[in-house]
Amino acid sequence: MEENILVMEKITKIYGNGFVANKDVDFAVKKGEIHALVGENGAGKSTLMKILFGAETADFGRILLNGQSIKVDSPISAIKHGIGMVHQHFMLAPSLTVAENMIMGIEPKKYGFIDYDKAVKMCEEVSKKYNLAIDPNAKVKDLAVGIKQKVEILKALLRGAEILILDEPTAVLTPQETDELFSQLEKLREKGHTIIFISHKLKEIKQICNRVTILRHGKSMGQYNLQDLSEQDISRLMVGRDVILKVKKEKAKPKETALKVRDLVVRDNVGKEVLKHISFNVRKGEILGVAGIEGNGQREIAESITGLGEYVSGRIIIKGQDIKHMSIREIRELGTAHIPEDRMTYGISEEAAIEDNIISDRFYKREYSKKGLFDNKKIEREVDGLIKDYLIKCDDRTQPVRMLSGGNIQKVVVARECSLNPDLIIVNQPTRGIDVGAIEFVRKRLIELRDEGVSILLISADLNEILELSDSLMVMCQGEIVAYFKESEKVTEQELGEYMLGLKKMTKEQVGGIMHEK
Ligand SMILES: Nc1ncnc2c1ncn2[C@@H]1O[C@H](COP(=O)(O)OP(=O)(O)OP(=O)(O)O)[C@@H](O)[C@H]1O
Ligand SMILES: [Mg+2]
Repeated sequence: MEENILVMEKITKIYGNGFVANKDVDFAVKKGEIHALVGENGAGKSTLMKILFGAETADFGRILLNGQSIKVDSPISAIKHGIGMVHQHFMLAPSLTVAENMIMGIEPKKYGFIDYDKAVKMCEEVSKKYNLAIDPNAKVKDLAVGIKQKVEILKALLRGAEILILDEPTAVLTPQETDELFSQLEKLREKGHTIIFISHKLKEIKQICNRVTILRHGKSMGQYNLQDLSEQDISRLMVGRDVILKVKKEKAKPKETALKVRDLVVRDNVGKEVLKHISFNVRKGEILGVAGIEGNGQREIAESITGLGEYVSGRIIIKGQDIKHMSIREIRELGTAHIPEDRMTYGISEEAAIEDNIISDRFYKREYSKKGLFDNKKIEREVDGLIKDYLIKCDDRTQPVRMLSGGNIQKVVVARECSLNPDLIIVNQPTRGIDVGAIEFVRKRLIELRDEGVSILLISADLNEILELSDSLMVMCQGEIVAYFKESEKVTEQELGEYMLGLKKMTKEQVGGIMHEK
């Protein structure tokens, strides 16, 4: 490997509110390496990379590219220097096509108009060059997250990125998509690209990266060769203590059925069945896991039950009530909580304060009003308690959510939903993007809720998580339940994978066990 291609020296960043997000950080990467950047939620990883990409300005410090000091004061100047970034929360325009997104800012023109055919061609060329398949004419809003990410990566490559920053690229991917991404990153590395890779998944870091820089509370804890560090070593350097990723749990004691789904059918916008007559029950006091490769109907299950999406036929019964004609709020009032897969779209109002996000749909409840007025003291006490319990890193409860780091936004959503006193929680990717310490906390909390008698439907692309938390589990493939395991501890990841990929399928009778009925 060659000399450092890029060096950041003594970077300090103080945000407008006085918060020191980076303090004297030294960071260096070599040409042709995949360099990991790790640290707890709020440690300053995204901040450091936004500075490199010109999206934030450092208060002190300098950046050297090939030994020359450079000024990066905007993403445009970063791109000029061959630095590209795929952000933690994607920045594509959903209503435009892939091609339109890809060429934004570098539009090919013909007679003064955007030359759309040329744009499509440019997309096809870059897609071929890097062997990343995309459909230039697809609307971004119809794409699965894994594909959106490819578009983001290609967008950076199209602009000539030699150094590619990927801010938590695998947080939203399935294991299969992650493998695919990794083989693509390896190819990019072979072509001489340098990749900076942010992730909370230490196993992946060990798998694909050459070296790692660890941040803690805005400071660098040093740079290491990954051969010299174990996963435990990394998490200890990040968190300052040993983290236990195995949750303790007793055997579930399920009670009566809280959620009953029968013959549920959902069609997509072109009329194709994405859920094909699926039926299952979730009882009080149990966690039913839903495994599957993303895009096999899991999201539609969550959206139908929570009222966010429509279903064409079938019945969903929550605590004995058919929810067909209920609004989202009415379903919530039945005691249904939801941790959505995409926190930025459904979970959160970014401009609003943490406090307002947490209490947004409790305002109308009687317990928060005192003689017709809001009981502000009670609200404040509760929110402060949640911030403390869930380790939400922030100034205070009035801070707008957009100022929080990605993982801390996720914690706000989890805190809000788990504290609603729900009877049923639909949990979709609960620990996506949160650091090892917080994962430990959230998993414990879900088990506690289960033990308090809550019904939990857990959807996760993280097989480890599914196996760890679920009492029983089902596998989705192409809109059908293809397997049901009454006791999840009897399944291996290998076996799950075979059902997920459609290599194996159980009979209707076997799967029917999921309704616990004769
Ligand atoms: N615009 C802002 N104004 C004030 N504080 C901010 C702003 N943006 C980020 N911060 C704070 O700076 C700290 C570092 O944030 P950053 O996004 O860099 O963390 P991170 O390491 O990427 O975390 P995560 O793993 O959760 O994505 C956080 O505590 C965050 O609240
Ligand atoms: Mg971040």
